[in-house]
Amino acid sequence: MTGRKCSFLVGVALAFVLAGGLSASAQTANQAWLKYQPLAKPLSVPVRVVKLGDSLLERSAKSELERGLQALAGKPGADVLPAEGPNVIVLGTAQEMRWRKRKSIVLSLEPEEFLTIWNSRLVGDHRELDVVGGSGRGVLYGVFALLRNLAQGADMSYSSLREHPAMPIRWVDEWDNPDGSIERGYAGRSIFFEGGQVRQDLAPVAEYARLLASVGINGCNVNNVNGASPLLAPEMIQGLARVANTMRPWGVRLALSVDIASPQKIGGLSTFDPLDPAVKSWWAAKVNEIYAIIPDFAGFTVKADSEGQPGPSSFGRTPADAANLLAGALAPHGGIVLYRAFVYNHHLDWRDPKADRARAAYDIFHSLDGKFAANVVVQTKEGPIDFQAREPVSPLFGGLEQTNQAMEIQVTQEYTGQQRHLVYLAPMWKQVLDFDLRADGKSTPVPTPVKEIIAGKSFRRPLGGMVAVAGVGRDAWLGSPLALANLYAFGRLAWDPNLSAEQIAVEWTRQTLSNDSKVVRTVGKMLMQSWPAYENYTGPLGMQTLTDILGSHYGPGIEASEENGWGQWHRADKEGVGMDRSAATGTGYAGQYPPEVARVYESLATCPDELLLFFHHVPYTWRLHSGKTVIQHIYDSHYRGAAEAAQFVDDWAALKGRIDPKLYEDVRARLEYQAGHAIVWRDAIVQYFLKLSGIPDEQGRAGHYPGRLEAEAARLTGYEVIDVTPWEDASQGKAVSCGEAGCAAEWTWAGPGGRFNIAVQYFDLQGGAAHFTLKVNGQPAGAWLADATLPSRRPNGDNSTRHTIRGVELKPGDLLRAEGTPDKDDPAALDYIDVTPAATAP
Ligand code: GCU
Repeated sequence: MTGRKCSFLVGVALAFVLAGGLSASAQTANQAWLKYQPLAKPLSVPVRVVKLGDSLLERSAKSELERGLQALAGKPGADVLPAEGPNVIVLGTAQEMRWRKRKSIVLSLEPEEFLTIWNSRLVGDHRELDVVGGSGRGVLYGVFALLRNLAQGADMSYSSLREHPAMPIRWVDEWDNPDGSIERGYAGRSIFFEGGQVRQDLAPVAEYARLLASVGINGCNVNNVNGASPLLAPEMIQGLARVANTMRPWGVRLALSVDIASPQKIGGLSTFDPLDPAVKSWWAAKVNEIYAIIPDFAGFTVKADSEGQPGPSSFGRTPADAANLLAGALAPHGGIVLYRAFVYNHHLDWRDPKADRARAAYDIFHSLDGKFAANVVVQTKEGPIDFQAREPVSPLFGGLEQTNQAMEIQVTQEYTGQQRHLVYLAPMWKQVLDFDLRADGKSTPVPTPVKEIIAGKSFRRPLGGMVAVAGVGRDAWLGSPLALANLYAFGRLAWDPNLSAEQIAVEWTRQTLSNDSKVVRTVGKMLMQSWPAYENYTGPLGMQTLTDILGSHYGPGIEASEENGWGQWHRADKEGVGMDRSAATGTGYAGQYPPEVARVYESLATCPDELLLFFHHVPYTWRLHSGKTVIQHIYDSHYRGAAEAAQFVDDWAALKGRIDPKLYEDVRARLEYQAGHAIVWRDAIVQYFLKLSGIPDEQGRAGHYPGRLEAEAARLTGYEVIDVTPWEDASQGKAVSCGEAGCAAEWTWAGPGGRFNIAVQYFDLQGGAAHFTLKVNGQPAGAWLADATLPSRRPNGDNSTRHTIRGVELKPGDLLRAEGTPDKDDPAALDYIDVTPAATAP
């Protein structure tokens, strides 16, 4: 090799390492939708930017606009913006525009409102685009709106925009713990905390705030609603002030979850009774301490008397007493309290047919309507249970007319596939937002969609909004690139709940992936189909997500929700399934809705199929409005859902070469995993209900798996047959596990000759990376490591995984051999292999 060539290669390698090193360590908004990818066409707006004011937010607005314009013009980072010239974008507040002695057409704008408008008074070729905000924050939002349109290829030469947010509270909640772990987070460790303190490196927090601001999110609560008391220690407040400083340039205000027992836990008082004067003074002093160093502190979120958290009930006090205590301390500073309505008894008696967790929020909070201070907002989860794949709208939204309300949703996909499954949640949120509760209690009810109630419009409330539990971490924000569509959609819907889920999907795809029409069409379709698909294979007809509710909340675990105090029951038995929540014969939950809605759910004749089993207990042979029986729907929907998940793999494959190769490959692997896990879900639920009901599948699929060779029926060397718990998580309830250095399962192929795909279904346990090899007649056909990070250390549906080897030639009598080599705590457990013709198999 010549010296020159050698140094060239070293240079390339160094550049590669540096680029890799940088991209590995820097967590940027660029990994999400703020990519500003170069446009095919020239920019339709001027590239010179001037600002009239010098507020922090206007400075951010200017630098963001310059950065975005440079990148969109294909010159990121280059100093190409002219300092002088006739064409310009002028940024300023309405006030500043007036001071500039323009006859502005803007009479008054709300503080968060913006207007982008071409200055029509200029003559000749001169062009001036004004971005006017009701405040610096409005200017910032105007800039992001302009960039959003440009990034999607919109021609802004003649367009103007005028928008204001639909609701004042648009917050994300992070459930981060001081030790750096994140409750129900699926994207690595906290960007805020580590080792009991605020992290030194807050660069990702700045990028996160930028991302949030780009979709109008104006508050960020940084800590878990559970175990919150350490956050109020003085040294922690110092650290939190750094977080607030970091987010401030983007108009994102810091909020905190607090433990109502803090005066006792960390304050040295003997009580935390909300009506005790010493408790009141303690909170007032603590709040003063916070505002002294975080003057724009947004407020507190409270989880009390819920899932083991202390609460006012210990002193015979109500949630209103507790909320008002905090509100009193915050009011002088302009802070607010978001008091969560997620209050319920998790020691319910499952034998009591009238007991019903779904009733709790309304039962507790409805009677307190009108008793909350003006700066308290009751924050209610979208449904009455807990972020299930499908729930009805919480009736509490219609039950509080003299109380500010916010709706809590989850971006982090706790019960909806934990970011390993593609589930775009905007269509689900839209159903809730658009749901008309007919709640205005006058003799003739008027439309009261949830979006108008939480915006404060229906009952003329001064405060209200939307809060999303986001769960971002250090792993590319949400781990999965496509999951970021949910964070984006949350912000957009909180800004404008009238946007459609499709429109948001398109916007997000264009900014994140590509403006290529095939990409936009395909990804839009995949996103829109993903929630229905997930619902189909995890728990249709309003049964909720049929997962292990006592642990991971991830894989199938149908009985985990039955016969315990947590109250997520679906009451399946030999004859039927569903929870009778009618007023006539059930728990009375249906009666918590305003009369018009209650009537629909109360009656089997009108209750929609998708919520039937949430409201009624029916025999498996009950005919749905669709004409199918309940049991046949359970079978069909699971097969359909798994087929839809398989289709996503093919849909995505058609985009190869049209999107960033690294992102393409990341998503491809995730979708393939999802398709396999959808089969685990399908088979678990189908075999469970087949056994329980004893009613066969009209289409003959349930219980019949052509081409499936069970591990327990193989010739085993070293492997031992085990019972999997819950039984439905393994095919036929059994698997094999290896207690030796290496084990094998062998089958003789008795099917026809041809080309096949062989899927090996195994359990990828935590605590080790077992090794597998599949051999055909002694020759390796595939080898892989079981090194995924999946929940649970026992073989079950959380970690049942498949590896597919495609295009294997087989003839009758061939020997198929799966060899497993355990590693540490992973015993290379195996469930079965599926051999399916190569042309048709997923
Ligand atoms: C769910 C979740 C908990 C969380 C709780 C809440 O139950 O599993 O981790 O603390 O919701 O919303 O408070």
